[in-house]
Amino acid sequence: MPHPLLASPDDAATPIHLVTEKTWPAVLDALPPLAAGFAKAQKFEPKSGAHCLLPDNEGGLLAIVFGLDAADAKRRDPFLVGKLPGLLPEGTYRLEPAPDDAALAVLAWLLGSYAFTRYRSRPERLARLVPPVGVDAEEMARIAEAVSRGRDLINTPANDLGPEALEEAVRSLAERYGATVSSIVGDDLIAGNFRMIHAVGRASASAPRLVDLVWGAEDAPKITLVGKGVCFDTGGLDIKPSSSMLLMKKDMGGAAAALATAEMIMGAGMPVRLRVLIPAVENAISGSAFRPGDILQSRKGLTVEIGNTDAEGRLILADALALADEEKPDLVVDFSTLTGAARVALGPDLPPFYTEDESLAAEISSLSLEVNDPVWRLPLWPPYASQLDSKIADINHIGGPMAGSITAALFLRRFVTESPHIHFDIYGWTNAAKPGRPEGGEVQAARLIYALVKKRYVGRS
Ligand code: BES
Ligand code: MN
Ligand code: ZN
Repeated sequence: MPHPLLASPDDAATPIHLVTEKTWPAVLDALPPLAAGFAKAQKFEPKSGAHCLLPDNEGGLLAIVFGLDAADAKRRDPFLVGKLPGLLPEGTYRLEPAPDDAALAVLAWLLGSYAFTRYRSRPERLARLVPPVGVDAEEMARIAEAVSRGRDLINTPANDLGPEALEEAVRSLAERYGATVSSIVGDDLIAGNFRMIHAVGRASASAPRLVDLVWGAEDAPKITLVGKGVCFDTGGLDIKPSSSMLLMKKDMGGAAAALATAEMIMGAGMPVRLRVLIPAVENAISGSAFRPGDILQSRKGLTVEIGNTDAEGRLILADALALADEEKPDLVVDFSTLTGAARVALGPDLPPFYTEDESLAAEISSLSLEVNDPVWRLPLWPPYASQLDSKIADINHIGGPMAGSITAALFLRRFVTESPHIHFDIYGWTNAAKPGRPEGGEVQAARLIYALVKKRYVGRS
């Protein structure tokens, strides 16, 4: 079997009756009297997301009923089935009838079964599912595994996932798929002309680095993923208040999303030449920390005035994006937990994306709905670019107090001039558990970019 939680069609399985207001009376009618009586006694109503475990005549488990109205669920939460593995006892189950989007239901099941177990064992969720006929179970299993590994990286605290450990994670992923990895570490970043990555990361006891993974045939279409790898963001000398710092182990969520996307692409053997660039640093505080007012030399050639050391992500991304741009790939995608302003605008579950490519934007918006990896386009509004003017350098890296996610995106744009580029300002975290989305790290936009690559180069999503 491709996944420990996916069963084979011949396995004995407890049915989960998916019911709507319309179908419930007939399902109820067909139940043995004891089970039907029990459902009535529980006051089960076939509302989307409601469930009831039904007994057989010996008191064993006969079946489950689960309210699922396709249209309603699509509007409210296409992952609704992802609630089930957390509600059911160990066993093997099948969905009856198969839901409208059966592949998404299988994925929701697997993603909803995730738990972060590195530091404490959890009661194992062992509700296995027989995938409905026609679902590519291997593919869903691969996607779920890639997401789980990405979530693990985000959930791992900075004392166990500093820049060096993040590089190790890239190397172990590469090993699994025969990719090659190189890295530029510490003072070599200066010689290599990545001074902004060096400046942001040099105050940490774990040296800053740029990790570069390459996979696939040299002559295939070139896709380059860039992920913000700030293993911890104290804010630097512009130190964050404790409430804002508490979750900042997740500031490498962009790197985790890029790596999860890469794992999906390599695992499926997509016909592309993939490159993943991870600038991995800790934005720490020490005597060698970079300062507000410093002027840094960027790889692109622009001098950058530092307005606030807490806007570190765009600096390391700028140097990595400039490198990505040099070989003019067919697409550059960056994932970054870049601004608090993006959360103010759209909330934690709907990351904004930015691109000047209209057809790419339309493709992204429609795929995002299709695979239930929600994102929303915001504009690279040119008049706001003047907020980044500096009096003594080519550019300042921060704008004024408003439109913070947009000005950050406009800053990044200055460093990608030769290739189509899409930037995701992700949150990287689920604050309150939802079906298929347990509380904790989340690799937003990863499944979406995998779907884009698949659609473009394999011809279906
Ligand atoms: N990593 C943060 C952004 C962030 C904060 C993302 C909370 C998700 C949740 C980033 O490095 C940062 O601190 N940005 C500053 C920029 C400001 C100083 C211009 C911000 O958004 O406050
Ligand atoms: Mn910051
Ligand atoms: Zn940050």
